[in-house]
Amino acid sequence: MILTEFQKSIIEGIPDHLPKPRPYDRNISHAPKRKDILNKGEKKLAIKNALRYFGKKHHVILAPEFKKELEEYGRIYMYRFRPDYKIYARSINEFPHKSKQAAAIMLMLSNNLDNAVAQHPHELITYGGNGAVFQNWAQYLLTMKYLAGMTDEQTLVLYSGHPMGLFPSHKDAPRVVVTNGMVIPNYSSPDHWEKFNALGVSQYGQMTAGSFMYIGPQGIVHGTTITLMNAARKIKINGSDNKWLLLVTSGLGGMSGAQPKAANIAGVVSITAEVNPKAAYKRFEQGWVDGITENVDQAIEVALEKQKKQQAHSIAYLGNIVTLWERLVKRNIHVDLGSDQTSLHNPWAGGYYPVGLSFEESNAMMVNNPDEFKRQVQESLCRQASAINKLAEKGMYFFDYGNAFLLESERAGADILKKDGSFKYPSYVQDIMGPMCFDYGFGPFRWVCASSKPEDLNITDNIAIHVLEKLAAVAPMEITQQMKDNIRWIREARQNKLVVGSQARILYADCEGRIKIAAAFNKAIKDGRISAPVILGRDHHDVSGTDSPYRETSNIYDGSQFTADMAIQNVIGDSFRGATWVSIHNGGGVGWGEVINGGFGMVLDGSKDADRRIKMMLHWDVNNGIARRSWARNDGAMFAIRRAMESEPGLKVTIPILADDSLIDKLFE
Ligand SMILES: NC(=O)c1ccc[n+]([C@@H]2O[C@H](COP(=O)([O-])OP(=O)(O)OC[C@H]3O[C@@H](n4cnc5c(N)ncnc54)[C@H](O)[C@@H]3O)[C@@H](O)[C@H]2O)c1
Repeated sequence: MILTEFQKSIIEGIPDHLPKPRPYDRNISHAPKRKDILNKGEKKLAIKNALRYFGKKHHVILAPEFKKELEEYGRIYMYRFRPDYKIYARSINEFPHKSKQAAAIMLMLSNNLDNAVAQHPHELITYGGNGAVFQNWAQYLLTMKYLAGMTDEQTLVLYSGHPMGLFPSHKDAPRVVVTNGMVIPNYSSPDHWEKFNALGVSQYGQMTAGSFMYIGPQGIVHGTTITLMNAARKIKINGSDNKWLLLVTSGLGGMSGAQPKAANIAGVVSITAEVNPKAAYKRFEQGWVDGITENVDQAIEVALEKQKKQQAHSIAYLGNIVTLWERLVKRNIHVDLGSDQTSLHNPWAGGYYPVGLSFEESNAMMVNNPDEFKRQVQESLCRQASAINKLAEKGMYFFDYGNAFLLESERAGADILKKDGSFKYPSYVQDIMGPMCFDYGFGPFRWVCASSKPEDLNITDNIAIHVLEKLAAVAPMEITQQMKDNIRWIREARQNKLVVGSQARILYADCEGRIKIAAAFNKAIKDGRISAPVILGRDHHDVSGTDSPYRETSNIYDGSQFTADMAIQNVIGDSFRGATWVSIHNGGGVGWGEVINGGFGMVLDGSKDADRRIKMMLHWDVNNGIARRSWARNDGAMFAIRRAMESEPGLKVTIPILADDSLIDKLFE
């Protein structure tokens, strides 16, 4: 077999010779310079740590180069080792491999580092400002080499991006086990992340970044569409007329970039503020937002006009969200729906840009004067909350989008709490996604066609529609609305041109839907109707994988929202029931130390083994979370787990007995 240059490079791994230094490419979005957090001794340690990947003969050249990177960027990325070939989701057989499963994983992680997909590709950051696939390029090169050489009798172990190595296992074991940011709980503050990451010993894998499951903003368009459709339903039920609703929000980054597109699909007029011109223009050029302006009044005028004309339309305001909110208050504009998707899980290192400073000024200040930067962020949050409060008093429905906006605003001293100490506004999970989706097992099921051919994706779409329609015909009333929304979504998905990077599709589905769709894909692969394996997964914004008290588990009210047993159980359970890879992370949307989330990937190759894994693993992956939500006394989950037990006699779940509130209250009278 003749190997391509790409294949030769993968098999070589970290090259024995030193590649030429690579110029810093200014045409690409780069991670902000990270905080200078290490003392002299720790800096020496960071450089020594980085040199572990390279032959001693190169240390004299690399040591000062790594010192310079640490000083200039706050991290050692090893830019020189960034490969020459284009990184993207090639067709599975282009990746050199001995194990098909390993090749599928190479495809998935390559997609996460594609320039068209990743937020800061040269710093190996996929989304969320700090969601890393690897800490440095040596880890990438070594991991790809291991994957290329491994068999189905080995498991690759990744410690926060670092490939510890291949360990003998067996064909039913996961091919890769990923842990990201696992630290001793007392060492889990944001500054601990800064320090451990600068030392090169830990990383923030976010959710789908470090688990190789990112599929670009499509992944989130679907969830955002469902959220906005249900939010709009909610306020319409609460009495508003049938006029076209106006949504105001912020962020056109990795996930937030999906908002304008979702708003259009949901039939809402939207203005989204974004301070980073590169992020804003990227979304505009991709067609995810219809118009762009630096003039705040113009943004408002266009929105009002489109509302009048009853046309769904999305506008990017290139500026600070606080400027937009304050202008809306000043002009007394009625906003129907409000939210925020700045990266407040990472408030001090580029996640939130305070009003009054330019984008460049902020980037400089967060490094050179972090204390003053923090003060400005907090002042900005107070102003933002104050403007939101004024609009909410006039009827706006505001919800936290799981980005820690309420949490950080409260920490900043903003007027964001009710008298009883709870937040003035609900999180979207408390009000919408939790009770309407997660409690019933609906979550962000997704798949990627490993041929990387759009034709295969079309076939999978059609299969999914067919399966869902059959299920919807006999679905109980409690889940009919969700089924309808999801059928509409999958029907329109193709025309909405949602694919960026790998040939991927997301579709909210419950346990039964996920298993039946997956089984139908596996059959189509076996029959040759789909030309190559299909990779299943989900993001972590789901019923089971994530313990996150201000987001995924914010509608858990039995006090267990601060425990993380569910996420840990989930990843352990997935790994022995047939996942091809599993991952567990500290940090994810809401911040380091604030969440534990787990994920999986599963390769379908048309085999009987795949059929067995689908049934066993997907069943656990969904019902673990339903059982926990049911134990927390959530109505929908109690309904769903009873239904699951009826259809699977092997499932025996402890059902809560509901105590009478009056009995308890009397005890304290
Ligand atoms: N979309 C979802 O369904 C969802 C779900 C859960 C959580 N989130 C959270 O939403 C946040 C955003 O995620 P992301 O991947 O888009 O992150 P991101 O960092 O890629 O994007 C955030 C964007 O906000 C911009 N921004 C920051 N401060 C601003 C300001 N003051 N005014 C205007 N723009 C500003 C940044 O320039 C950046 O482009 C994260 O905290 C994420 O965890 C999103």
